[in-house]
Amino acid sequence: MNYINLAIFASGSGSNAENIVNYFANNKQIRVAALFCNKADAFVLKRIYKTQFPKIVFTKNEMLNSSKIDEKLQTFAIDYIVLAGFLLKIPKRINDLYKNKIINIHPALLPDFGGEGMYGMNVHKAVKSSGASETGITIHIIDEDYDRGETIFQAKCLVTPEDTPESIADKIHTLEQEHFPKVIERFILERSTL
Ligand code: GAR
Repeated sequence: MNYINLAIFASGSGSNAENIVNYFANNKQIRVAALFCNKADAFVLKRIYKTQFPKIVFTKNEMLNSSKIDEKLQTFAIDYIVLAGFLLKIPKRINDLYKNKIINIHPALLPDFGGEGMYGMNVHKAVKSSGASETGITIHIIDEDYDRGETIFQAKCLVTPEDTPESIADKIHTLEQEHFPKVIERFILERSTL
């Protein structure tokens, strides 16, 4: 049986990437086939250095102005792309190649606290300053704008007056670890004709 091949795109610490890699390690239908990273010193590369699949490091300029990524996606027969803390905007060129097959996670309840500049701790600080009583995660298909596109899944958590941006980040991390790989698996298998 042919595997469905996932590429993970990540820019930073890589806790989601590592969780996804571990979750699919023994999966018989879906596998992580490559990691794409736009920062040579990103911790994600250290976290998963032992894994066998290729790691492709590229620059923003290469993503925008060359076919390096497109060619690697083809070489590794990538079927779906998962953005796991990937902070650059995916160019229209790649989005067109993978229409409805690029899944992103955002650490808030979109459409709230989304858009350019809204990533990582910036999001949790904005949630805290807004006085919101809840936040959460959104897993969605990307379209041409930041943090837009069809929502696949949301999960919520409470924000109490005692919460700090750091404690909000911990709650979000817990939700991401619990749900992201399962939601990816369900989304792909529902659309798969294997
Ligand atoms: C995650 O919380 C993810 O939701 C967020 O970046 C963090 C990456 O952590 N993504 C965004 O903010 C996208 N707008 P990780 O590198 O440890 O997985």
